[in-house]
Amino acid sequence: MKINIAAPQIGQEEKDAVMEVMNSGMLAQGPKVLQFEEDFAKFIGTKYAIATSNGTTALEVALRAHGITEGDEVITTPFTFIASANAVLYTGARPVFVDIKDDFLIDPDLIEAAITPKTKAILPVHLYGSACDMTKIMAIAQKHGLVVIEDACQSHGSEWQGQKTGSFGTGCFSLYPTKNMTVGEGGMITTNDQPAYEKSLLLRAHGSKVRYYHDILGYNYRMTDLEGAIGIEQLKKLPKFNAARQKNAAYLNEELGKIKGIIVQVAPEGVTHVYHQYTIRITPDFGLTRDEVLAKLTEASIGTAVFYPLPLNRQKVYEDLGYKPNTPIADDLTAQVLSLPVHPGLKQEDLEYIVKTFQEMAK
Ligand SMILES: Cc1ncc(COP(=O)(O)O)c(C=O)c1O
Repeated sequence: MKINIAAPQIGQEEKDAVMEVMNSGMLAQGPKVLQFEEDFAKFIGTKYAIATSNGTTALEVALRAHGITEGDEVITTPFTFIASANAVLYTGARPVFVDIKDDFLIDPDLIEAAITPKTKAILPVHLYGSACDMTKIMAIAQKHGLVVIEDACQSHGSEWQGQKTGSFGTGCFSLYPTKNMTVGEGGMITTNDQPAYEKSLLLRAHGSKVRYYHDILGYNYRMTDLEGAIGIEQLKKLPKFNAARQKNAAYLNEELGKIKGIIVQVAPEGVTHVYHQYTIRITPDFGLTRDEVLAKLTEASIGTAVFYPLPLNRQKVYEDLGYKPNTPIADDLTAQVLSLPVHPGLKQEDLEYIVKTFQEMAK
């Protein structure tokens, strides 16, 4: 590909930080992870942060730490990466899918109708680097006594009305290489809830506070100090990375927004978007289908991706569990979405080439 859909931004600072840990001989979870957790909590604006092995384990630990278990229901979106709902299944609880709005996010006005006596939590996903309407979601949660676990795996630094995602309920982040910041593979939980924090520490490390004494059934979901050291450096650069993504998205919105049949990705009212993905909709007015556009961009050596081609309630693994398609807006949008490169490594000429390729397709 001439232009990749994602490009991890690793500099000399990360390389030096890894070498320092290598030379220390202390590779497993240690002081670097602790510092990374402190820095991350400060950035998000929570009292606590707990580093884990990836975003999926962050979600599982957060759900378990809040007592989600067999027989419970957790309300979430079907328009997300499968880990959002699988983490619920791991606990023995059942995800309940609520449809989205045309901003790709769970429709808060449909949540209350999905609440049953078994509902224990709401798990909104701040997809693509956006932010859900946390005013409405927190009000519903409070009214019904529900826990809120935010899937912030794609939203490092995004804000709802000036407050960071991951700081409203208990937040879960992924640090996978395509994300706005990375450590390789890693995750982070953010919370102000002290009992959930303490339980998360136990769950992450085999239920152990004192070495070789185990209080509860836990796991090995730890982060290494090599990853912690990378995370410290990446977090320092995150505001700059996000600003570059916002600038790239603004240019694409301006130029692609002029083309008939393309709906560009404008941040919803109240959202500071960090454009983890820049996702447009190819509507019938464009003249070519989404898949035809995807093929033409691939031919032009421009990396693209469809996030996501199938809503979760249509995935075989969920069909086999008895789920039925019941989210028509998610169905419609999966047929139209196309994500384009927006990462901080793009040059102005790359952006111009993407726009020119679309202009030629539209002729
Ligand atoms: C919305 C969402 N949730 C959860 C995850 C899981 O994170 P990880 O891949 O780090 O396990 C991801 C990662 O892609 C994600 O995008």
